[in-house]
Amino acid sequence: MRLAIIGGTGVYDPGVLSGVREVNVETVYGKAGALVGTYKGQEIAFMARHGYGHTVPPHLINYRANIAALKMLGVERVIATSAVGSLNTAMPPGSFVFMDQFIDFAKSEVRTFFDGGDHGVVHTDYTTPYCPDIRARLIENARQMGFVASDGGCYVCTDGPRFETPAEIRMFRILGGDVVGMTGVPEVVLAREAGMCYASIAMVTNWAAGISGQPLGHAEVVEIMQANGEKLRRLMMATLEGLGSERTCGCGRDAHPMPWLGTEA
Ligand code: HPA
Repeated sequence: MRLAIIGGTGVYDPGVLSGVREVNVETVYGKAGALVGTYKGQEIAFMARHGYGHTVPPHLINYRANIAALKMLGVERVIATSAVGSLNTAMPPGSFVFMDQFIDFAKSEVRTFFDGGDHGVVHTDYTTPYCPDIRARLIENARQMGFVASDGGCYVCTDGPRFETPAEIRMFRILGGDVVGMTGVPEVVLAREAGMCYASIAMVTNWAAGISGQPLGHAEVVEIMQANGEKLRRLMMATLEGLGSERTCGCGRDAHPMPWLGTEA
């Protein structure tokens, strides 16, 4: 199977996939589960980043196991979803942002598959961190569907699980951030190291801390995600359906062999 969805907050079920089966993959980084089903003749893996009942907080997500498992399943292209707060008045709550850059403020220890020793040392290019081909299709489909969407944007990743302070948000704005979330890095980093195409659909759920003057809560994030769930699903499925079988984007260009991943459990 070559396509996968990683569902973030508020996206916990594969919905439109048929003949869904559960797959558990044992990786050298730990276990990762996915649901695998079919959509219009294509097999698609669905993974819930926070677990199926939002039980795993951002700082405890086993990103390496998740991406390694997708790689072991043969996945080449990933569309991820993420809830984000907005720092940019041109990106209001309820709109989509198709990021083209990120700034990594996460301090998590895991940041690579290549830890030296037998796994080697690798310095991967992130000039174009998100797959330009999938991004272009997402933007085109979102526009055709009449959704409010931003073509490009800089995602700032924090560790969470707390929301930011207004002072941090002011700093992120000065640095060029547009939206903020807690999970986009290292996921995009590991996907690129593994040679996959990766693009993310960010749904703006709130103004970032200090912008609207209102305190932030997880409930409002989930509420906006649920209110927009159907749009998100339509956009993902139309985009996955339209991807040709050959990759021409160059995302896999830098991939280094990872023989230690072995095969599907
Ligand atoms: N900050 C960080 N993560 C988020 C936010 C936010 O404001 N909204 C949704 N995810």
